[in-house]
Amino acid sequence: MRQPLVAGNWKMNGDRATNEALLNGIKAGIGDVEQSEVAVCAPFVYLADVQRQLEASPIRWGSQDVSAEPKGAFTGEVSVTMLKDFGCHYAIVGHSERRSLHGEDNDTVARKFAAAREGGIRPILCVGETLAEREADTTEQVVGAQLDAVMDAVGPAALADGVIAYEPVWAIGTGHTATPEQAQAMHAFIRQRVADRDAATADALRILYGGSMKGANAAELMAQSDIDGGLIGGASLDADEFLTICRAAG
Ligand code: G3P
Repeated sequence: MRQPLVAGNWKMNGDRATNEALLNGIKAGIGDVEQSEVAVCAPFVYLADVQRQLEASPIRWGSQDVSAEPKGAFTGEVSVTMLKDFGCHYAIVGHSERRSLHGEDNDTVARKFAAAREGGIRPILCVGETLAEREADTTEQVVGAQLDAVMDAVGPAALADGVIAYEPVWAIGTGHTATPEQAQAMHAFIRQRVADRDAATADALRILYGGSMKGANAAELMAQSDIDGGLIGGASLDADEFLTICRAAG
């Protein structure tokens, strides 16, 4: 049995006062979430605040990126050691916005996955296809290559120390959520791609869905056998909406 995980990706949103109010709202309702693990991934500059506000709660926290490098002349980057200083449990790696806006290729993402894992932080590995790739019927080729780059770099068993998030790029921030059938098909593909190399790791692997998951559609998505939670963008900025999704996860 895989424990569900619902993680909020705040992206570049919020301020100290708004964040505190959001976290207070989530903390107030977290007692109704029966079995799902809950986390928030905040901008780097707010991690000290988030740590202080969540460390006495069951809610975990993480970052939205991590350097592939351990330390040194990498202006603007943040290392896994620095994230551990603020108690981070998770680090998102390879989000489509990093891939598209910052030129992160599969090899870079694989190195970030390895750095997070080796530093004791659970990487949330984002994979997913663009609309053009789906319309060209290359979805499995694209997502398979994204997965293979990490498995080739660290071995399939290393995925057990992380989480995968399938985020069809065409569903992110658009309101065009993948149907449960579309999402389940890709989650099953991802699990099988890992199982082809390591069946035990594949069976235990948590695969989250991301891309316009909301309170209204979360339950039907979470009901799919290979969907183990969500990576939530816009809806994670509203405590009630985010808690609705967390309750739908179980
Ligand atoms: O990382 C999660 C994010 O990409 C999904 O965004 O706003 O479609 O829930 P959103």
